[in-house]
Amino acid sequence: MSKIKTRYVCIECGAITAKWQGQCSSCQAWNTLEESREDPAETAHRFAPLTQTSEVVKLSDVQARDLPRVSTGIGELDRVMGGGLVSGGVTLIGGDPGIGKSTLLLQAAGAMSGQSRVLYVTGEESAEQVALRARRLSLNNPQIDLLAEIRLDIVEAALRDNPPGMAVIDSIQTIYSSALTSAPGSVAQVRECAAQLTRLAKQLGVPLFMIGHVTKDGALAGPRVLEHMVDTVLYFEGDTHSSFRLVRAFKNRFGAVNELGVFAMTDRGLKGVSNPSALFLSHHTERVSGTCVMATQEGTRPLLVEIQALLDDCQSQSPKRLALGLEGHRLAMLLAVLHRHAGVATADQDVFINAVGGVRISEPAADLPVLLAVLSSLRNRPLPAGLIAFGEIGLAGEVRPAPRGQERLREAAKLGFSTAIIPSANAPKSPIEGLNVIPIDRLSQAIEAARQLND
Ligand code: TYD
Ligand code: MG
Repeated sequence: MSKIKTRYVCIECGAITAKWQGQCSSCQAWNTLEESREDPAETAHRFAPLTQTSEVVKLSDVQARDLPRVSTGIGELDRVMGGGLVSGGVTLIGGDPGIGKSTLLLQAAGAMSGQSRVLYVTGEESAEQVALRARRLSLNNPQIDLLAEIRLDIVEAALRDNPPGMAVIDSIQTIYSSALTSAPGSVAQVRECAAQLTRLAKQLGVPLFMIGHVTKDGALAGPRVLEHMVDTVLYFEGDTHSSFRLVRAFKNRFGAVNELGVFAMTDRGLKGVSNPSALFLSHHTERVSGTCVMATQEGTRPLLVEIQALLDDCQSQSPKRLALGLEGHRLAMLLAVLHRHAGVATADQDVFINAVGGVRISEPAADLPVLLAVLSSLRNRPLPAGLIAFGEIGLAGEVRPAPRGQERLREAAKLGFSTAIIPSANAPKSPIEGLNVIPIDRLSQAIEAARQLND
């Protein structure tokens, strides 16, 4: 009989060590090692290959076909997934509790069940609770098979006996394999169950969704290896207080990443918002200082997002720098550039910046609008009406172009914006109707342009 060994698994990177340590020797994270007990006999099958072929073939001989896609029936979900479900494609979907993961997938299950059988495994809620939600969503489809189960072997049997056109596991943290002695929800269990289900989905060609919980600091609970295992990782983001929900693709083997699906949570479930470009603007009745609208690009879609800044006299020794929805480290750097290249000091100010509507912007093209908003708040002077801006700012005070500038500008013009301060490399070759484009190369020129517009 094989001996059961105790191992320690890092919940950040999945590295395994024999002894407990305070710091993971592989990813250097602190306090991330968790105990797991594993049977070596069980470990062997974990490393069985995910695919069937094992011969060496010439890459040029491999036929690359376009993957056939099946629509989930929910346009915005298809969009983030790169066009729809792929046979054997495994998708991990994460997000805060109560943000709408179960709702979205039950709706997708309902829409899919018109064309094929769907298996919905609920480990978190009882069958009655799911039925209640289905009624609220007005789903009336006898084709959804519900399985209230947490044992892995039973879930696997249900998949194998009659492979469905789509399967949902709600959630992967509740699924439990009796082959392991560790508790449900532990790293070893989550990893093992996800690996088994992924392998089975690929074998059977079943598109599989796994719902995953998110930890306090926003990572998917369970080891990072979950993200490596699956084909697509989707995250719900946005403000649980507002009704809008964003679904973003973080990894997608079958499509573009950073594609965004936009939904509104209504009393009858999530509704896709097909034209969300003006969603992240707050509508001020009069011009206010400290806000600047930026034209950003999310995947294939331009969005207009209002960036707000507030500067206030600092009451302590160390001034605060706080960024919501934008990159915090970048803020400190931008304020230094503002000081050195435009002569505007903010060392005695607390600085807060925010992207309206809970949207998260990670692209550096937000730099210019952030600094224009900061300056507007500092001077207490509103920026000109109908202004948009974008552009990355370098340490030398230069403003660099952003990708797909034309599309951003056209979207802004469509929504009635009249002036754009943008990097000169993004200036359109032919004029865009209704939009006065002011091309600039340096931060100081941008500030001067905004001042002149105000005069
Ligand atoms: P849920 O899908 O259960 O969230 P998760 O699975 O991500 O934890 O949905 C959560 C919230 O959505 C819940 O607080 C109630 C709300 N909701 C609506 O507003 N309208 C609806 O039609 C449904 C089904 C839920
Ligand atoms: Mg749920």
